Amino acid sequence: RFVMFSFNDDDYVTEYRPRKHGGPSNTVLILLIVLVLLVFAVSVTAIVYLLKSPAGPTPSPSETTDPPQSTTENPSQTTTAPVTEPQQPQVGLSFYGTPIDTVEIYRGDLILVNSNYPYNFTANAEKDSKVTDLYNIWKPYPNYCYKLTGTKVKTLPFLGNYLNTFFDAFLTDTGKKDYLVTSCFRTYEIQEETLKEMIEKYGSEETALRYTAKPGYSEHHTGLAMDVYVFTDDQITYKLGEAKMPDVYNWIYENAPKYGFIQRYKAAKESITGYAEESWHFRYVGTPHAEIIEENGFCLEEYIDFLRGYSYPNYLSYEATNGKSYLIYYEPVKTETVVIPEVRDENGNLITPVSTAEQFPGKSTLHLPNNASYTVSGNNVDGFIVTITLD
Ligand code: DAL
Ligand code: ZN
Repeated sequence: RFVMFSFNDDDYVTEYRPRKHGGPSNTVLILLIVLVLLVFAVSVTAIVYLLKSPAGPTPSPSETTDPPQSTTENPSQTTTAPVTEPQQPQVGLSFYGTPIDTVEIYRGDLILVNSNYPYNFTANAEKDSKVTDLYNIWKPYPNYCYKLTGTKVKTLPFLGNYLNTFFDAFLTDTGKKDYLVTSCFRTYEIQEETLKEMIEKYGSEETALRYTAKPGYSEHHTGLAMDVYVFTDDQITYKLGEAKMPDVYNWIYENAPKYGFIQRYKAAKESITGYAEESWHFRYVGTPHAEIIEENGFCLEEYIDFLRGYSYPNYLSYEATNGKSYLIYYEPVKTETVVIPEVRDENGNLITPVSTAEQFPGKSTLHLPNNASYTVSGNNVDGFIVTITLD
């Protein structure tokens, strides 16, 4: 019996006495200790060598230039969702790690804005300063391929131009120009006004909040949402999806995903989105995300969560209806805090930081491809989504 590392004095003394029944002598004991230490030293040396070796088995993703590899832990191999075909290593793709400002998680086409995650006006101030009247983009476009409620609808220039393309496709397919856009971008004040009107309309704040977000929490602040109805040349208005609506206007549901739009609030997802069904509210998330979302029956909340399972170096591979292949992965924000020195003016007043990056300090590391085109979007919660387009 060896109890060499016991702190019980009696045991300790006992073990180091010659044993009555021919137990090991002190010399044998010392030899055994030396042997154990030797084996331990050799093992430690071997492990250190393996870790340092360039051919070692565990380079961290930031150190490797290899493309994302399939692993057995890859969620794409364990889920039954239609988009999750097994990943293939992409020959010729290499990655580098680069710092990204934390503030970027509040920007991009995939930001999730709902009653838990408000829109970050500060982080998006520069983009929002470009908001313009949709009328100014609609008017010069040939054909007047859709309709507008008055001149008050505001939009980001990119979405305004994109709506021309989108509704022109409807005109080409059907010969009709009857979609009616009633709202796109909304400021905090416009949303305040909208909620007030809805409370009057429904007679209670509780009911109004099933259809309208509180100011600061509306997707319309992002400039990526739009409300669409139908208004025919015979001056008949239809709510999208209502029973008496002619079938031809279902075009928008059939084609929205291909153009990067999703129907944001569906009846089945009310418990997740927090809003009752809105047949009229579409959200731009871009290609191929809208197709993946629709194909899997996700709402945006579910999709953002789903992507957390595809964290670099794992990725989701998807072939969109445009024939292009995409790789998508998530990078969690890992903030390295940057301490901003206090700056005061001659009167001792604190000078407000000038850039949004300074107001949301910190850097994360993002892995980007060296030789492929990509976009990066924050998710407005806890990380970034990289979308690579393969040629
Ligand atoms: N109708 C949606 C929920 C909004 O007000 O943003
Ligand atoms: Zn809306």
